[in-house]
Amino acid sequence: MVQTTDQRRERPMEPAGAVCRACGTELRRRARFCDACGAPAPEAVDQAEFKQVTVLFADVVNSLAIASKLGAERLLEIMAEVFGCAATITRRYGGTVDKFTGDGIMALFGAPVALEDHAFRACLASLEIQEQIGQLADEVQRRDGLALHLRVGLNSGRVVAGEISSDARAYTAIGEQVGLAQRMESVAPPGGVMLSESTARLVEHITVLGTPEWVNVKGAEKPLLARQLLGSATERVAIGRREPTLVGRAWEMNTLTSILDQAIVGAGCVVGVVGPPGIGKSRIVREAVTLATGRGVEVFTVACESHTSEVPFLVVARLLRTVFGVSDLDEHAGRARVRAAIPDANPDDLLLLDDLLGIGDPDVALPAITPDARGRRLAALLNAAALAQTTAAQYVIEDVHWIDEVSEAMLAEFVSVVPRRRALVLITYRTEYRGVLSRTPGAQTISLAPLDAAQTTALTTELLGPDPSVGALAARIADRAAGNPFFAEEMVRDLAERGVLEGDRGAYLCRDDAADISVPGTLQATIAARVDRLPMSGMAWEVCLIVQIGWAVGGAPAAVPPTGRAAARRCRTGGAEGTNDGANADGGQPRSHR
Ligand SMILES: Nc1ncnc2c1ncn2[C@@H]1O[C@H](COP(=O)(O)OP(=O)(O)OP(=O)(O)O)[C@@H](O)[C@H]1O
Ligand SMILES: [Mg+2]
Repeated sequence: MVQTTDQRRERPMEPAGAVCRACGTELRRRARFCDACGAPAPEAVDQAEFKQVTVLFADVVNSLAIASKLGAERLLEIMAEVFGCAATITRRYGGTVDKFTGDGIMALFGAPVALEDHAFRACLASLEIQEQIGQLADEVQRRDGLALHLRVGLNSGRVVAGEISSDARAYTAIGEQVGLAQRMESVAPPGGVMLSESTARLVEHITVLGTPEWVNVKGAEKPLLARQLLGSATERVAIGRREPTLVGRAWEMNTLTSILDQAIVGAGCVVGVVGPPGIGKSRIVREAVTLATGRGVEVFTVACESHTSEVPFLVVARLLRTVFGVSDLDEHAGRARVRAAIPDANPDDLLLLDDLLGIGDPDVALPAITPDARGRRLAALLNAAALAQTTAAQYVIEDVHWIDEVSEAMLAEFVSVVPRRRALVLITYRTEYRGVLSRTPGAQTISLAPLDAAQTTALTTELLGPDPSVGALAARIADRAAGNPFFAEEMVRDLAERGVLEGDRGAYLCRDDAADISVPGTLQATIAARVDRLPMSGMAWEVCLIVQIGWAVGGAPAAVPPTGRAAARRCRTGGAEGTNDGANADGGQPRSHR
């Protein structure tokens, strides 16, 4: 984790005897990074805290039988590979190995550092763990004649996390939710991943899940609902999620319409759509996509993801695969498509491009050049291709606060030629992003303000419906959502899931008009992730706002981690003024902003 100077200065160092939470190696006193794996040293945790997390349990199936058939040395070798693979992948997705359980592993996503997408990351990690263990299993089958399988179980919810005893090694999570993750693991099929209902709910729109099934687990009186994780959606689209009618944003949409119309006739433009989580950046962009397609403009979309911000070239490669239309082609056809699109390109550059797009010919060697030179040549090629294109196009690059550095640099060059093209480039980012794509010369910026009271009420009323029994609740939700549409939606969803609201969206009934509105898990994770990433100086106003929402809605410090409470205190004492320079992107593996 990249920390700001302020964070380092104001947070105490881990006492001697502490261990790396990623690999378990003992840390040197005052070490900032682990000597073994390079992971950042944990900050001292002075007390246990409530955290919204996803707990992962992975266990070797029939480990006793395997142990009885193998010599000790080979058994150790296989187990070391299993644990090493699971631990490495867990860390890659921002998780923390909590403990090795003898023949398995327990990991946390969302603690010690909160992650707004903890459940999705845990899913991606689980799928990759199973894939890699599958490869290891082939080898074990060949060499030892044994079947090696792993079961993985996930559960999401609130746990108590912290150094549960005075032993600094004892950072762990406890609570009912931890046990439930283990139960999910016990009912997963060999080689499979089983999600509890709460995890499934958090990821159902971005993963492929099996049908809900009732499972009997030890200790539970009644069967529980669970779903198998079958895959992840290739695109971060909210499949099947019904969006509310767009409220407000008339000025923003009018502005985008005029910019698009000018772009179509040759005055290309770059527009940054900026705002805090849930304010409606993606929504605006989706509306703009509808506008563009309605005018016959081709649209190319790519989204950056919180867990891939360290993977060089990833975003630009994804964008180019879409632009060249090679995603569904085999390598041979892909190479032919690229050459037809840019017939005059230098042959060496084309080899680099093939490689970037994942359609390289394995029998042809790549030019031996440095990664920097590779980046420069690819960027030049990209610009030449962009300038050669004559039809109007709209490019959408979502969530660049999570972009990898190389893609960022290449796209910065790409957007510099946009004014000379029939193109509109829409870039979304959260307020803290200070990277080069937020400073494109000549670019327009649309900063999304919170919805006003009437707009928030209109949204909440649409979600709840017209029944008089929900009237009072609608007003309270509108008030507490503070103009953030995502907050309003999540509060309604949470009330429906808790059974406070009966019926269907847009036609709810409420039997308890004094019903308690708590902070839904999704919001707690979003708020906590944001607060955990903040430097202690220079608080952004909207973070004060969401911290206050956390307090107002939850009414409980539990909804906000200790850093958040400190932040909230600063807000109240007026320490919140100033800029948010240096703040990290929230929710992901942040990197410093250039
Ligand atoms: N003006 C609006 N009217 C109605 N619904 C809206 C409006 N703006 C956003 N929404 C809804 O609120 C939810 C959150 O919006 P969106 O995903 O666009 O937020 P975001 O700013 O992109 O957040 P993030 O930073 O997390 O990506 C979506 O379901 C969206 O449809
Ligand atoms: Mg978005």
